[in-house]
Amino acid sequence: MTFVVTENCIKCKYMDCIEPCPVDCFYEGPEILVIDPDECIDCSVCVTTCPVNAIYQDTKLPEDQAVFLEINRKFSAIWPNAVQKCEALPDRDKWAEVAEKRQFLLEAQTCAAAAK
Ligand code: SF4
Ligand code: F3S
Repeated sequence: MTFVVTENCIKCKYMDCIEPCPVDCFYEGPEILVIDPDECIDCSVCVTTCPVNAIYQDTKLPEDQAVFLEINRKFSAIWPNAVQKCEALPDRDKWAEVAEKRQFLLEAQTCAAAAK
């Protein structure tokens, strides 16, 4: 099993989930964090830290979020490890009200890489 970051995270990326994770298995893209399913130890600690309820256990993923299981696996192998909060995304509170955001999921640079 693993936990999965889903659509609600896109353009919000509050990053409150990073520090509580005991195994540092979050990875950071420009619009979203993802979880490495091979590193996640299924502790569930991160779930209640997310202000927009973006994190689900894979066995409890809503049907319309099933694609995020593969998104988490794919991009956690590419993106850098998320170890600290970076600058908050603009309008993240506004985006928290938007349900359909997957079209904004970019494969481009991460804010961590941009900061180098
Ligand atoms: Fe980290 Fe636990 Fe969340 Fe997995 S379930 S991402 S190990 S805090
Ligand atoms: Fe995303 Fe929630 Fe973490 S918005 S970055 S899963 S705290």
